[in-house]
Amino acid sequence: MSYQFSKESEVRFQKLVPQFPNKRSLILPCLFLLQKDQGFVDKDGMEYIANRIGAPVSLAHVHGVATFYTMYNKKPVGKYHIQICANISCYLAGSDVVTETACKKLGIRPGETKEDKSFTVEEVQCLGACGFGPVAQINESYYEHLDAEKIEQIIDQLAKQG
Ligand code: FES
Repeated sequence: MSYQFSKESEVRFQKLVPQFPNKRSLILPCLFLLQKDQGFVDKDGMEYIANRIGAPVSLAHVHGVATFYTMYNKKPVGKYHIQICANISCYLAGSDVVTETACKKLGIRPGETKEDKSFTVEEVQCLGACGFGPVAQINESYYEHLDAEKIEQIIDQLAKQG
């Protein structure tokens, strides 16, 4: 096992522990700390979390939670992680065009990361903003009412920021 919480995450973890008397409830925030530290959640990190939380939480519990939720990245992603909702409301509003445009512009396919690690495009399940579709989450921000032109502008803007 080589992963361990960063200093910042360790402080956060120490604050979280007394707030969650049910140890299983610690799994979600701990997975967020892991993802914050290294950008994705892997077996090594999940094992660490299971050990830090301790019984009755096992690696199987942590793995079950991590694989259930799409907000945990199972592999490294680009600096800008473009997650486009492909559920019915967004699809009917044209999310497929948004995905196609983003992928074409970046020269990748859905689920792929650009070679320079700048962008990842992924189709995800409902982001909970169904009335504002097509919706994308890029890192921590939501972008609503997207179309081909808007997603191109957003990508240009983010690429400029570097
Ligand atoms: Fe896209 Fe719910 S269907 S946010």
